[in-house]
Amino acid sequence: MKSEVKRTELCGVIGTHLAGKKVGIAGWVDVRRDLGGLIFIELRDASGKIQLVADPNRNKAVHEKFTQLRSEFVIAASGVVSLRPEGSANTHTPTGSVEIYPDEVEILNTCRPLPFQLDDASQVDEALRLKWRFLDIRRPEMQRNLRLRHEITQAIHRHLDAQGFIEVETPMLTRATPEGARDFLVPSRLSPGHWYALPQSPQLFKQTLMIAGIDRYYQVARCFRDEDLRADRQPEFTQIDIEMSFTDEEQVMAITEGLLKEAFSCIAVDLAPPFPRLTHQDAMARYGSDKPDQRFEMELKDLTKLALNCQFKVFRQVAESGGQLKCLVVEAGAGKISRKQLDLWQEFAKSSGAKGLAWIALGKDGLRSSGIHQHFSDAEIAEMKSLAGAKEDDLLLLVADKPKQVANVLGRLRLKLGEELGLIDTRLHKLLWVTDFPMFEYDDEEGRLMAVHHPFTSPWLEDLPLLDTNPEQARSRAYDVVYNGVEIGGGSIRIHDQEVQQKAFTAIGITREVALEKFGFLMDALEFGAPPHGGLALGLDRLVMLLCGGKSIRDVIAFPKTQSGSCLMTNAPSEASADQLKELHIGAKPPAQPARTQ
Ligand code: AMO
Repeated sequence: MKSEVKRTELCGVIGTHLAGKKVGIAGWVDVRRDLGGLIFIELRDASGKIQLVADPNRNKAVHEKFTQLRSEFVIAASGVVSLRPEGSANTHTPTGSVEIYPDEVEILNTCRPLPFQLDDASQVDEALRLKWRFLDIRRPEMQRNLRLRHEITQAIHRHLDAQGFIEVETPMLTRATPEGARDFLVPSRLSPGHWYALPQSPQLFKQTLMIAGIDRYYQVARCFRDEDLRADRQPEFTQIDIEMSFTDEEQVMAITEGLLKEAFSCIAVDLAPPFPRLTHQDAMARYGSDKPDQRFEMELKDLTKLALNCQFKVFRQVAESGGQLKCLVVEAGAGKISRKQLDLWQEFAKSSGAKGLAWIALGKDGLRSSGIHQHFSDAEIAEMKSLAGAKEDDLLLLVADKPKQVANVLGRLRLKLGEELGLIDTRLHKLLWVTDFPMFEYDDEEGRLMAVHHPFTSPWLEDLPLLDTNPEQARSRAYDVVYNGVEIGGGSIRIHDQEVQQKAFTAIGITREVALEKFGFLMDALEFGAPPHGGLALGLDRLVMLLCGGKSIRDVIAFPKTQSGSCLMTNAPSEASADQLKELHIGAKPPAQPARTQ
Protein backbone atom coordinates (compact mmCIF):
# COMPACT_ATOMS: atom_id res chain seq x y z
CA MET A 1 0.00 0.00 0.00
CA LYS A 2 1.42 3.35 -0.97
CA SER A 3 1.63 5.85 1.86
CA GLU A 4 -0.33 9.10 1.37
CA VAL A 5 1.90 10.94 3.84
CA LYS A 6 5.23 11.85 2.29
CA ARG A 7 8.30 11.89 4.54
CA THR A 8 9.96 15.30 4.40
CA GLU A 9 12.13 15.20 7.55
CA LEU A 10 13.94 12.72 9.77
CA CYS A 11 12.58 12.64 13.33
CA GLY A 12 15.88 13.42 15.02
CA VAL A 13 16.58 16.64 13.11
CA ILE A 14 13.31 18.42 13.90
CA GLY A 15 13.96 21.41 16.13
CA THR A 16 12.91 24.96 16.84
CA HIS A 17 14.23 25.99 13.40
CA LEU A 18 11.24 24.17 11.89
CA ALA A 19 8.63 25.65 14.26
CA GLY A 20 5.50 26.65 12.33
CA LYS A 21 6.45 24.50 9.33
CA LYS A 22 4.46 21.49 8.14
CA VAL A 23 6.52 18.28 8.03
CA GLY A 24 5.98 14.63 7.09
CA ILE A 25 7.68 12.00 9.25
CA ALA A 26 7.72 8.21 9.51
CA GLY A 27 9.05 5.66 11.95
CA TRP A 28 8.37 3.26 14.81
CA VAL A 29 6.27 3.91 17.91
CA ASP A 30 8.90 3.94 20.62
CA VAL A 31 6.77 4.89 23.60
CA ARG A 32 3.05 5.59 23.90
CA ARG A 33 1.59 7.37 26.92
CA ASP A 34 -2.15 7.67 27.22
CA LEU A 35 -3.06 10.36 29.74
CA GLY A 36 -6.81 9.78 29.38
CA GLY A 37 -7.31 12.80 27.18
CA LEU A 38 -4.00 13.51 25.46
CA ILE A 39 -2.00 10.64 23.96
CA PHE A 40 1.75 11.12 23.53
CA ILE A 41 3.86 9.11 21.09
CA GLU A 42 7.65 9.09 20.85
CA LEU A 43 8.24 8.36 17.20
CA ARG A 44 11.66 6.91 16.37
CA ASP A 45 13.60 6.56 13.14
CA ALA A 46 17.29 6.03 12.37
CA SER A 47 18.08 9.64 13.26
CA GLY A 48 16.35 9.97 16.65
CA LYS A 49 12.97 10.60 18.24
CA ILE A 50 10.25 13.24 18.15
CA GLN A 51 7.15 13.69 20.31
CA LEU A 52 3.72 13.52 18.67
CA VAL A 53 0.56 14.51 20.55
CA ALA A 54 -3.07 13.68 19.82
CA ASP A 55 -5.76 15.82 21.44
CA PRO A 56 -9.34 14.51 21.02
CA ASN A 57 -10.63 18.09 21.09
CA ARG A 58 -8.35 19.08 18.22
CA ASN A 59 -8.55 16.11 15.86
CA LYS A 60 -10.83 13.20 16.74
CA ALA A 61 -9.70 10.98 13.84
CA VAL A 62 -6.02 11.28 14.73
CA HIS A 63 -6.78 10.64 18.40
CA GLU A 64 -8.72 7.52 17.43
CA LYS A 65 -5.70 6.28 15.38
CA PHE A 66 -3.39 6.96 18.33
CA THR A 67 -5.55 4.73 20.58
CA GLN A 68 -4.80 1.82 18.23
CA LEU A 69 -1.01 2.28 18.30
CA ARG A 70 1.23 -0.13 20.19
CA SER A 71 5.02 -0.43 20.62
CA GLU A 72 6.90 -0.75 17.33
CA PHE A 73 3.90 -0.10 15.06
CA VAL A 74 5.12 1.68 11.92
CA ILE A 75 3.39 4.96 11.14
CA ALA A 76 3.68 8.01 8.96
CA ALA A 77 2.32 11.36 10.12
CA SER A 78 2.21 14.93 8.97
CA GLY A 79 1.58 18.12 10.88
CA VAL A 80 2.95 21.49 11.90
CA VAL A 81 5.95 21.63 14.25
CA SER A 82 5.09 23.61 17.37
CA LEU A 83 7.09 24.77 20.36
CA ARG A 84 6.30 22.84 23.54
CA PRO A 85 4.41 24.80 26.16
CA GLU A 86 6.55 26.71 28.61
CA GLY A 87 8.02 24.44 31.29
CA SER A 88 7.43 21.18 29.38
CA ALA A 89 10.52 21.23 27.15
CA ASN A 90 12.82 18.24 27.60
CA THR A 91 16.39 19.45 27.61
CA HIS A 92 17.78 15.88 27.56
CA THR A 93 16.80 15.18 23.96
CA PRO A 94 17.80 17.19 20.88
CA THR A 95 14.19 17.47 19.73
CA GLY A 96 12.88 18.16 23.24
CA SER A 97 11.78 21.77 22.63
CA VAL A 98 9.24 20.91 19.94
CA GLU A 99 6.32 18.56 19.28
CA ILE A 100 3.86 17.84 16.51
CA TYR A 101 0.07 17.63 16.69
CA PRO A 102 -0.43 15.60 13.49
CA ASP A 103 -3.32 16.38 11.20
CA GLU A 104 -2.90 13.08 9.39
CA VAL A 105 -1.65 9.67 10.61
CA GLU A 106 -1.29 6.45 8.67
CA ILE A 107 -0.60 3.08 10.24
CA LEU A 108 1.85 1.45 7.80
CA ASN A 109 2.30 -1.75 9.76
CA THR A 110 1.54 -3.41 13.07
CA CYS A 111 3.92 -5.33 15.32
CA ARG A 112 3.50 -8.50 17.37
CA PRO A 113 4.01 -8.26 21.16
CA LEU A 114 7.76 -7.82 21.66
CA PRO A 115 9.92 -10.72 22.95
CA PHE A 116 11.80 -8.13 25.06
CA GLN A 117 11.46 -4.45 25.79
CA LEU A 118 13.90 -2.56 23.62
CA ASP A 119 14.64 0.06 26.25
CA ASP A 120 15.92 -2.40 28.84
CA ALA A 121 17.96 -4.58 26.52
CA SER A 122 20.90 -4.36 28.92
CA GLN A 123 18.92 -6.56 31.34
CA VAL A 124 18.01 -9.05 28.62
CA ASP A 125 19.82 -12.31 27.96
CA GLU A 126 22.11 -11.77 24.95
CA ALA A 127 20.78 -14.94 23.30
CA LEU A 128 17.33 -13.36 23.12
CA ARG A 129 18.77 -10.21 21.57
CA LEU A 130 20.68 -12.26 18.98
CA LYS A 131 17.62 -14.35 18.07
CA TRP A 132 15.59 -11.19 17.50
CA ARG A 133 18.52 -9.23 16.12
CA PHE A 134 16.34 -7.11 13.80
CA LEU A 135 14.64 -5.74 16.92
CA ASP A 136 17.89 -5.42 18.83
CA ILE A 137 19.43 -3.33 16.03
CA ARG A 138 16.51 -0.89 16.31
CA ARG A 139 17.90 0.19 19.68
CA PRO A 140 19.74 3.52 19.58
CA GLU A 141 22.91 1.93 21.01
CA MET A 142 23.18 -0.61 18.18
CA GLN A 143 22.27 2.05 15.63
CA ARG A 144 25.07 4.23 17.01
CA ASN A 145 27.58 1.38 16.93
CA LEU A 146 26.86 0.40 13.33
CA ARG A 147 26.90 4.03 12.25
CA LEU A 148 30.27 4.60 13.94
CA ARG A 149 31.59 1.45 12.27
CA HIS A 150 30.53 2.86 8.93
CA GLU A 151 32.12 6.24 9.65
CA ILE A 152 35.41 4.64 10.70
CA THR A 153 35.47 2.42 7.63
CA GLN A 154 34.75 5.39 5.36
CA ALA A 155 37.47 7.47 7.04
CA ILE A 156 39.92 4.62 6.43
CA HIS A 157 38.87 4.30 2.76
CA ARG A 158 39.39 8.05 2.27
CA HIS A 159 42.73 8.05 4.03
CA LEU A 160 44.20 5.10 2.15
CA ASP A 161 42.86 6.30 -1.19
CA ALA A 162 44.57 9.64 -0.59
CA GLN A 163 47.84 7.81 0.10
CA GLY A 164 47.72 5.99 -3.24
CA PHE A 165 46.40 2.63 -2.04
CA ILE A 166 43.91 0.78 -4.21
CA GLU A 167 41.38 -1.70 -2.92
CA VAL A 168 41.70 -5.11 -4.54
CA GLU A 169 39.34 -7.93 -3.68
CA THR A 170 40.87 -11.34 -3.10
CA PRO A 171 39.03 -14.67 -3.27
CA MET A 172 36.80 -16.11 -0.56
CA LEU A 173 37.03 -19.59 -2.03
CA THR A 174 40.69 -20.38 -1.86
CA ARG A 175 43.35 -22.64 -0.42
CA ALA A 176 44.23 -22.69 3.25
CA THR A 177 46.29 -19.65 4.35
CA PRO A 178 48.53 -20.55 7.24
CA GLU A 179 47.62 -18.14 10.05
CA GLY A 180 47.67 -20.83 12.69
CA ALA A 181 43.94 -21.36 13.20
CA ARG A 182 41.73 -24.13 11.86
CA ASP A 183 40.22 -23.58 8.40
CA PHE A 184 36.60 -23.53 7.37
CA LEU A 185 36.32 -25.87 4.40
CA VAL A 186 33.85 -25.73 1.52
CA PRO A 187 33.35 -28.84 -0.62
CA SER A 188 33.82 -28.54 -4.36
CA ARG A 189 31.00 -30.05 -6.42
CA LEU A 190 33.01 -29.94 -9.63
CA SER A 191 36.15 -31.54 -8.20
CA PRO A 192 34.93 -34.48 -6.16
CA GLY A 193 36.75 -34.91 -2.86
CA HIS A 194 38.41 -31.48 -3.09
CA TRP A 195 37.82 -28.58 -0.78
CA TYR A 196 38.20 -24.86 -0.83
CA ALA A 197 39.24 -23.12 2.38
CA LEU A 198 37.79 -19.77 3.40
CA PRO A 199 40.69 -17.32 3.87
CA GLN A 200 42.04 -16.81 7.38
CA SER A 201 43.44 -13.59 5.92
CA PRO A 202 44.41 -12.41 2.43
CA GLN A 203 48.10 -12.74 3.41
CA LEU A 204 49.39 -14.71 0.42
CA PHE A 205 47.23 -12.89 -2.10
CA LYS A 206 48.39 -9.47 -0.92
CA GLN A 207 52.00 -10.56 -1.16
CA THR A 208 51.30 -11.89 -4.64
CA LEU A 209 49.76 -8.51 -5.54
CA MET A 210 53.03 -6.82 -4.56
CA ILE A 211 54.93 -9.17 -6.84
CA ALA A 212 52.31 -8.33 -9.47
CA GLY A 213 53.30 -4.67 -9.27
CA ILE A 214 50.25 -3.25 -7.44
CA ASP A 215 52.58 -1.28 -5.11
CA ARG A 216 49.99 -0.18 -2.52
CA TYR A 217 47.06 -2.51 -1.77
CA TYR A 218 44.34 -2.46 0.83
CA GLN A 219 41.13 -4.29 1.42
CA VAL A 220 38.33 -4.27 3.96
CA ALA A 221 38.65 -8.02 4.07
CA ARG A 222 36.45 -10.65 5.63
CA CYS A 223 38.50 -13.39 7.32
CA PHE A 224 37.46 -16.77 8.67
CA ARG A 225 39.09 -18.70 11.50
CA ASP A 226 37.68 -21.77 13.13
CA GLU A 227 39.03 -21.12 16.61
CA ASP A 228 37.57 -21.06 20.10
CA LEU A 229 35.66 -17.86 20.52
CA ARG A 230 36.06 -15.16 23.14
CA ALA A 231 34.59 -11.72 23.69
CA ASP A 232 37.05 -10.22 21.20
CA ARG A 233 37.06 -13.03 18.63
CA GLN A 234 34.57 -14.11 15.99
CA PRO A 235 34.88 -16.98 13.49
CA GLU A 236 34.16 -14.44 10.77
CA PHE A 237 35.66 -10.99 11.22
CA THR A 238 36.92 -8.03 9.23
CA GLN A 239 40.45 -6.76 8.74
CA ILE A 240 41.71 -3.53 7.28
CA ASP A 241 44.42 -5.29 5.32
CA ILE A 242 47.34 -3.33 3.91
CA GLU A 243 50.46 -4.15 1.89
CA MET A 244 53.14 -1.94 0.37
CA SER A 245 56.15 -2.49 -1.90
CA PHE A 246 59.65 -1.03 -1.45
CA THR A 247 58.88 -0.24 2.14
CA ASP A 248 60.19 -0.69 5.65
CA GLU A 249 58.88 -0.78 9.22
CA GLU A 250 59.00 3.00 9.57
CA GLN A 251 56.77 3.60 6.59
CA VAL A 252 54.21 0.90 7.46
CA MET A 253 54.02 2.25 11.01
CA ALA A 254 53.62 5.85 9.82
CA ILE A 255 50.80 4.88 7.44
CA THR A 256 49.08 2.91 10.20
CA GLU A 257 49.44 5.76 12.67
CA GLY A 258 47.86 8.16 10.17
CA LEU A 259 45.04 5.69 9.62
CA LEU A 260 44.38 5.29 13.32
CA LYS A 261 44.50 9.05 13.82
CA GLU A 262 41.76 9.32 11.20
CA ALA A 263 39.72 6.52 12.83
CA PHE A 264 40.00 8.05 16.31
CA SER A 265 38.88 11.43 14.97
CA CYS A 266 35.47 9.73 14.46
CA ILE A 267 35.11 9.74 18.26
CA ALA A 268 36.69 13.19 18.56
CA VAL A 269 39.98 11.89 19.97
CA ASP A 270 43.06 13.56 18.57
CA LEU A 271 45.94 11.09 18.59
CA ALA A 272 49.47 12.40 18.52
CA PRO A 273 51.69 9.95 16.58
CA PRO A 274 54.34 8.61 16.57
CA PHE A 275 53.20 6.04 19.11
CA PRO A 276 55.77 4.82 21.64
CA ARG A 277 57.55 1.55 20.87
CA LEU A 278 58.55 -1.34 23.05
CA THR A 279 60.46 -4.42 22.01
CA HIS A 280 58.75 -7.74 22.61
CA GLN A 281 61.48 -8.58 25.09
CA ASP A 282 60.90 -5.39 27.11
CA ALA A 283 57.12 -5.75 26.98
CA MET A 284 57.35 -9.26 28.41
CA ALA A 285 59.91 -8.22 31.03
CA ARG A 286 58.07 -5.11 32.21
CA TYR A 287 54.42 -6.05 31.78
CA GLY A 288 54.40 -9.85 31.37
CA SER A 289 52.46 -9.36 28.16
CA ASP A 290 53.04 -8.73 24.46
CA LYS A 291 50.06 -6.36 24.55
CA PRO A 292 50.63 -4.25 27.64
CA ASP A 293 47.91 -2.02 28.98
CA GLN A 294 49.81 1.18 29.69
CA ARG A 295 46.88 3.02 31.24
CA PHE A 296 48.40 2.15 34.61
CA GLU A 297 51.95 1.63 35.79
CA MET A 298 52.52 -1.34 38.13
CA GLU A 299 55.39 -2.97 36.25
CA LEU A 300 56.91 -6.38 37.03
CA LYS A 301 60.05 -6.02 39.16
CA ASP A 302 62.93 -8.45 38.80
CA LEU A 303 64.27 -9.94 42.04
CA THR A 304 66.22 -12.80 40.41
CA LYS A 305 69.53 -11.25 41.45
CA LEU A 306 68.44 -11.47 45.07
CA ALA A 307 67.03 -14.99 44.63
CA LEU A 308 70.38 -16.26 43.30
CA ASN A 309 72.15 -15.32 46.51
CA CYS A 310 69.46 -15.69 49.14
CA GLN A 311 69.12 -18.33 51.86
CA PHE A 312 65.59 -19.28 50.84
CA LYS A 313 66.09 -22.55 48.95
CA VAL A 314 62.83 -22.50 46.99
CA PHE A 315 63.61 -19.20 45.27
CA ARG A 316 67.36 -19.87 44.96
CA GLN A 317 66.88 -23.18 43.19
CA VAL A 318 64.49 -21.67 40.66
CA ALA A 319 66.97 -18.88 39.92
CA GLU A 320 69.91 -21.29 39.69
CA SER A 321 68.11 -23.40 37.13
CA GLY A 322 67.52 -20.47 34.77
CA GLY A 323 64.24 -19.30 36.27
CA GLN A 324 63.27 -15.88 37.58
CA LEU A 325 61.84 -14.33 40.71
CA LYS A 326 59.63 -11.36 39.95
CA CYS A 327 57.04 -9.38 41.81
CA LEU A 328 54.26 -6.83 41.57
CA VAL A 329 54.10 -4.04 44.11
CA VAL A 330 50.69 -3.02 45.45
CA GLU A 331 51.23 0.48 46.77
CA ALA A 332 50.02 0.91 50.37
CA GLY A 333 48.65 -2.63 50.07
CA ALA A 334 50.16 -3.96 53.33
CA GLY A 335 47.51 -2.31 55.47
CA LYS A 336 44.49 -2.48 53.25
CA ILE A 337 44.54 -5.85 51.45
CA SER A 338 42.71 -8.56 53.40
CA ARG A 339 43.79 -12.20 53.80
CA LYS A 340 40.67 -13.21 51.94
CA GLN A 341 41.66 -11.02 49.00
CA LEU A 342 45.17 -12.51 49.02
CA ASP A 343 43.70 -16.03 49.03
CA LEU A 344 41.65 -15.14 45.93
CA TRP A 345 44.72 -13.78 44.13
CA GLN A 346 46.65 -16.93 45.05
CA GLU A 347 43.85 -19.02 43.57
CA PHE A 348 43.90 -16.87 40.45
CA ALA A 349 47.69 -17.25 40.09
CA LYS A 350 47.37 -21.03 40.39
CA SER A 351 44.60 -21.14 37.80
CA SER A 352 46.98 -19.20 35.50
CA GLY A 353 49.57 -21.94 35.87
CA ALA A 354 51.64 -20.71 38.84
CA LYS A 355 52.88 -23.19 41.43
CA GLY A 356 52.05 -20.54 44.01
CA LEU A 357 51.90 -16.85 44.75
CA ALA A 358 54.04 -15.69 47.66
CA TRP A 359 53.46 -12.34 49.35
CA ILE A 360 55.24 -10.06 51.76
CA ALA A 361 53.46 -7.13 53.39
CA LEU A 362 55.94 -4.41 54.40
CA GLY A 363 53.67 -3.31 57.24
CA LYS A 364 54.41 -0.20 59.33
CA ASP A 365 54.43 -2.38 62.44
CA GLY A 366 56.50 -5.22 60.99
CA LEU A 367 56.54 -7.78 58.22
CA ARG A 368 53.82 -10.30 57.45
CA SER A 369 53.99 -12.82 54.64
CA SER A 370 52.80 -16.11 53.21
CA GLY A 371 55.31 -17.77 55.54
CA ILE A 372 58.46 -16.69 53.70
CA HIS A 373 59.83 -13.52 55.30
CA GLN A 374 61.55 -15.48 58.10
CA HIS A 375 63.88 -16.90 55.44
CA PHE A 376 65.29 -13.47 54.58
CA SER A 377 67.77 -11.41 56.57
CA ASP A 378 67.11 -7.71 57.18
CA ALA A 379 69.71 -6.88 54.53
CA GLU A 380 67.96 -9.15 52.03
CA ILE A 381 64.60 -7.58 52.78
CA ALA A 382 66.20 -4.17 52.23
CA GLU A 383 67.63 -5.36 48.89
CA MET A 384 64.23 -6.79 47.93
CA LYS A 385 62.62 -3.42 48.69
CA SER A 386 65.21 -1.60 46.67
CA LEU A 387 64.99 -3.94 43.63
CA ALA A 388 61.19 -3.74 43.72
CA GLY A 389 61.17 0.04 44.24
CA ALA A 390 58.88 -0.63 47.22
CA LYS A 391 58.41 1.40 50.38
CA GLU A 392 56.97 0.87 53.81
CA ASP A 393 53.30 -0.19 53.77
CA ASP A 394 53.56 -1.71 50.26
CA LEU A 395 52.60 -5.28 49.46
CA LEU A 396 54.78 -7.53 47.28
CA LEU A 397 53.27 -10.38 45.26
CA LEU A 398 55.99 -12.79 44.14
CA VAL A 399 56.27 -15.60 41.61
CA ALA A 400 59.35 -17.78 41.01
CA ASP A 401 59.28 -19.99 37.92
CA LYS A 402 60.49 -20.33 34.34
CA PRO A 403 60.59 -16.87 32.66
CA LYS A 404 57.63 -17.63 30.37
CA GLN A 405 55.50 -18.78 33.29
CA VAL A 406 56.47 -15.81 35.50
CA ALA A 407 55.50 -13.39 32.71
CA ASN A 408 52.22 -15.17 32.06
CA VAL A 409 51.13 -15.33 35.69
CA LEU A 410 52.23 -11.84 36.76
CA GLY A 411 51.03 -10.33 33.46
CA ARG A 412 47.54 -11.67 34.05
CA LEU A 413 47.59 -10.80 37.74
CA ARG A 414 48.68 -7.25 36.89
CA LEU A 415 45.58 -6.77 34.73
CA LYS A 416 43.35 -8.22 37.43
CA LEU A 417 44.85 -5.90 40.05
CA GLY A 418 44.47 -2.97 37.68
CA GLU A 419 40.75 -3.67 37.39
CA GLU A 420 40.06 -4.66 40.99
CA LEU A 421 42.04 -1.87 42.59
CA GLY A 422 40.68 0.75 40.19
CA LEU A 423 44.16 1.63 38.88
CA ILE A 424 43.11 1.97 35.23
CA ASP A 425 42.37 5.48 34.03
CA THR A 426 39.58 4.63 31.59
CA ARG A 427 39.74 8.08 29.98
CA LEU A 428 43.15 7.36 28.45
CA HIS A 429 43.87 6.18 24.91
CA LYS A 430 47.22 4.41 25.11
CA LEU A 431 48.58 3.20 21.80
CA LEU A 432 51.96 1.59 21.33
CA TRP A 433 53.96 -0.59 18.98
CA VAL A 434 55.42 -3.86 20.14
CA THR A 435 58.35 -4.77 17.87
CA ASP A 436 61.07 -7.37 17.36
CA PHE A 437 58.99 -10.44 18.12
CA PRO A 438 60.92 -13.68 18.00
CA MET A 439 60.54 -15.46 14.65
CA PHE A 440 59.57 -18.76 16.26
CA GLU A 441 58.48 -20.17 19.54
CA TYR A 442 58.20 -23.71 20.79
CA ASP A 443 54.63 -24.96 20.86
CA ASP A 444 54.18 -27.52 23.62
CA GLU A 445 51.00 -28.93 22.11
CA GLU A 446 52.44 -29.37 18.62
CA GLY A 447 55.83 -30.41 20.02
CA ARG A 448 57.71 -28.23 17.52
CA LEU A 449 58.70 -24.67 16.65
CA MET A 450 55.93 -22.51 15.20
CA ALA A 451 56.05 -19.07 13.57
CA VAL A 452 55.06 -16.39 16.10
CA HIS A 453 53.43 -14.24 13.39
CA HIS A 454 53.34 -16.27 10.19
CA PRO A 455 56.08 -18.02 8.24
CA PHE A 456 56.30 -15.23 5.63
CA THR A 457 57.69 -12.76 8.16
CA SER A 458 61.24 -11.61 7.48
CA PRO A 459 63.95 -12.19 10.07
CA TRP A 460 66.36 -9.42 10.95
CA LEU A 461 69.13 -9.54 8.38
CA GLU A 462 71.81 -10.04 11.03
CA ASP A 463 69.80 -12.92 12.56
CA LEU A 464 69.57 -14.78 9.25
CA PRO A 465 72.36 -17.27 10.12
CA LEU A 466 70.42 -18.18 13.28
CA LEU A 467 67.69 -19.75 11.14
CA ASP A 468 70.08 -22.67 10.52
CA THR A 469 71.73 -22.82 13.92
CA ASN A 470 69.44 -21.48 16.64
CA PRO A 471 66.09 -20.41 15.15
CA GLU A 472 64.53 -19.70 18.55
CA GLN A 473 66.97 -16.80 18.99
CA ALA A 474 66.12 -15.18 15.64
CA ARG A 475 64.20 -11.90 15.81
CA SER A 476 61.57 -11.02 13.25
CA ARG A 477 60.69 -7.76 11.54
CA ALA A 478 57.17 -8.02 12.94
CA TYR A 479 55.21 -5.38 14.82
CA ASP A 480 51.87 -5.29 16.61
CA VAL A 481 49.85 -2.21 17.40
CA VAL A 482 48.27 -2.29 20.85
CA TYR A 483 45.48 -0.08 22.17
CA ASN A 484 44.69 -0.04 25.89
CA GLY A 485 45.96 -3.60 26.29
CA VAL A 486 44.27 -5.06 23.19
CA GLU A 487 46.14 -6.14 20.06
CA ILE A 488 44.29 -4.25 17.37
CA GLY A 489 46.67 -5.03 14.53
CA GLY A 490 49.81 -6.76 13.46
CA GLY A 491 52.08 -7.08 10.48
CA SER A 492 55.63 -7.40 9.29
CA ILE A 493 58.17 -6.87 6.59
CA ARG A 494 57.99 -10.05 4.52
CA ILE A 495 60.53 -12.42 3.13
CA HIS A 496 60.98 -11.64 -0.58
CA ASP A 497 63.80 -14.07 -1.26
CA GLN A 498 62.88 -17.64 -2.11
CA GLU A 499 65.88 -19.16 -0.35
CA VAL A 500 65.23 -17.29 2.89
CA GLN A 501 61.60 -18.34 2.64
CA GLN A 502 62.62 -21.98 2.41
CA LYS A 503 64.95 -21.56 5.41
CA ALA A 504 62.04 -20.14 7.44
CA PHE A 505 59.89 -23.09 6.39
CA THR A 506 62.62 -25.57 7.24
CA ALA A 507 62.92 -24.11 10.75
CA ILE A 508 59.30 -25.01 11.41
CA GLY A 509 59.50 -28.40 9.74
CA ILE A 510 57.97 -27.52 6.35
CA THR A 511 59.94 -29.36 3.70
CA ARG A 512 60.41 -28.05 0.18
CA GLU A 513 57.91 -30.63 -1.10
CA VAL A 514 55.26 -29.51 1.35
CA ALA A 515 55.99 -25.84 0.65
CA LEU A 516 55.57 -26.43 -3.07
CA GLU A 517 52.44 -28.40 -2.53
CA LYS A 518 50.83 -25.81 -0.28
CA PHE A 519 52.20 -22.49 -1.50
CA GLY A 520 53.78 -23.37 -4.81
CA PHE A 521 52.38 -20.20 -6.38
CA LEU A 522 54.14 -18.03 -3.80
CA MET A 523 57.40 -19.95 -4.10
CA ASP A 524 57.18 -19.45 -7.87
CA ALA A 525 56.30 -15.78 -7.55
CA LEU A 526 59.26 -15.16 -5.23
CA GLU A 527 61.52 -16.23 -8.13
CA PHE A 528 60.00 -13.74 -10.58
CA GLY A 529 61.24 -10.39 -9.34
CA ALA A 530 59.57 -10.05 -5.97
CA PRO A 531 60.06 -6.53 -4.58
CA PRO A 532 60.79 -6.00 -0.89
CA HIS A 533 57.39 -5.54 0.73
CA GLY A 534 55.53 -5.42 4.01
CA GLY A 535 52.23 -4.51 5.56
CA LEU A 536 49.81 -4.99 8.37
CA ALA A 537 46.21 -5.83 9.20
CA LEU A 538 44.01 -4.06 11.72
CA GLY A 539 41.15 -5.92 13.34
CA LEU A 540 38.26 -3.64 12.41
CA ASP A 541 35.74 -5.23 14.79
CA ARG A 542 38.07 -4.92 17.77
CA LEU A 543 38.95 -1.36 16.90
CA VAL A 544 35.31 -0.32 16.53
CA MET A 545 34.36 -2.17 19.72
CA LEU A 546 36.95 -0.21 21.67
CA LEU A 547 36.03 3.10 20.08
CA CYS A 548 32.35 2.45 20.94
CA GLY A 549 33.42 1.74 24.52
CA GLY A 550 32.04 -1.81 24.24
CA LYS A 551 33.22 -5.02 25.84
CA SER A 552 32.18 -7.49 23.13
CA ILE A 553 32.80 -7.40 19.39
CA ARG A 554 29.31 -8.85 18.96
CA ASP A 555 27.99 -5.37 19.74
CA VAL A 556 29.61 -3.88 16.65
CA ILE A 557 28.78 -6.70 14.22
CA ALA A 558 25.26 -6.68 12.80
CA PHE A 559 24.78 -10.44 12.76
CA PRO A 560 27.46 -12.07 14.93
CA LYS A 561 27.89 -15.68 16.03
CA THR A 562 27.55 -16.91 19.60
CA GLN A 563 30.40 -18.43 21.61
CA SER A 564 29.48 -21.79 20.09
CA GLY A 565 29.69 -20.38 16.57
CA SER A 566 26.00 -20.28 15.71
CA CYS A 567 23.79 -17.51 14.40
CA LEU A 568 20.67 -17.56 16.55
CA MET A 569 18.62 -15.57 14.07
CA THR A 570 19.15 -17.80 11.02
CA ASN A 571 19.99 -20.95 12.98
CA ALA A 572 23.23 -21.41 11.04
CA PRO A 573 24.97 -23.80 10.89
CA SER A 574 22.23 -26.17 9.81
CA GLU A 575 22.12 -29.76 8.65
CA ALA A 576 22.56 -30.52 4.97
CA SER A 577 20.21 -32.88 3.21
CA ALA A 578 21.37 -36.27 2.02
CA ASP A 579 20.90 -35.08 -1.56
CA GLN A 580 23.08 -32.03 -1.04
CA LEU A 581 25.82 -34.14 0.52
CA LYS A 582 25.67 -36.62 -2.31
CA GLU A 583 25.88 -33.88 -4.89
CA LEU A 584 28.95 -32.53 -3.12
CA HIS A 585 30.56 -35.98 -3.04
CA ILE A 586 31.04 -35.74 0.70
CA GLY A 587 32.80 -38.87 1.79
CA ALA A 588 34.30 -39.46 -1.67
CA LYS A 589 38.06 -40.04 -1.87
CA PRO A 590 40.10 -37.53 -3.92
CA PRO A 591 41.48 -38.98 -7.14
CA ALA A 592 45.23 -39.60 -6.93
CA GLN A 593 47.24 -36.64 -8.25
CA PRO A 594 50.92 -36.54 -9.13
CA ALA A 595 52.89 -34.65 -6.44
CA ARG A 596 54.60 -31.47 -7.60
CA THR A 597 58.32 -31.63 -6.96
CA GLN A 598 59.70 -28.43 -8.40
P1 AMO B 1 46.71 -11.34 12.63
O1 AMO B 1 46.41 -12.78 12.67
O2 AMO B 1 47.54 -10.76 13.73
O3 AMO B 1 47.51 -10.94 11.32
O4 AMO B 1 45.36 -10.53 12.52
C1 AMO B 1 45.33 -9.11 12.44
C2 AMO B 1 44.30 -8.55 13.42
O5 AMO B 1 43.02 -9.13 13.20
C3 AMO B 1 42.30 -9.19 14.42
N1 AMO B 1 41.83 -10.58 14.64
C4 AMO B 1 40.56 -10.91 14.98
N2 AMO B 1 39.49 -10.15 15.23
C5 AMO B 1 38.34 -10.77 15.54
N3 AMO B 1 38.20 -12.11 15.62
C6 AMO B 1 39.25 -12.92 15.36
N4 AMO B 1 39.09 -14.25 15.41
C7 AMO B 1 40.51 -12.33 15.04
N5 AMO B 1 41.74 -12.81 14.74
C8 AMO B 1 42.52 -11.74 14.49
C9 AMO B 1 43.25 -8.75 15.52
C10 AMO B 1 44.61 -8.89 14.87
O6 AMO B 1 45.52 -7.97 15.41
N6 AMO B 1 47.94 -11.65 7.77
C11 AMO B 1 48.29 -11.06 9.05
C12 AMO B 1 48.50 -9.58 8.95
C13 AMO B 1 49.79 -9.18 8.28
O7 AMO B 1 50.85 -9.77 8.59
O8 AMO B 1 49.75 -8.22 7.49
C14 AMO B 1 47.19 -11.34 10.05
O9 AMO B 1 46.12 -11.80 9.73
O10 AMO B 1 42.99 -7.40 15.85
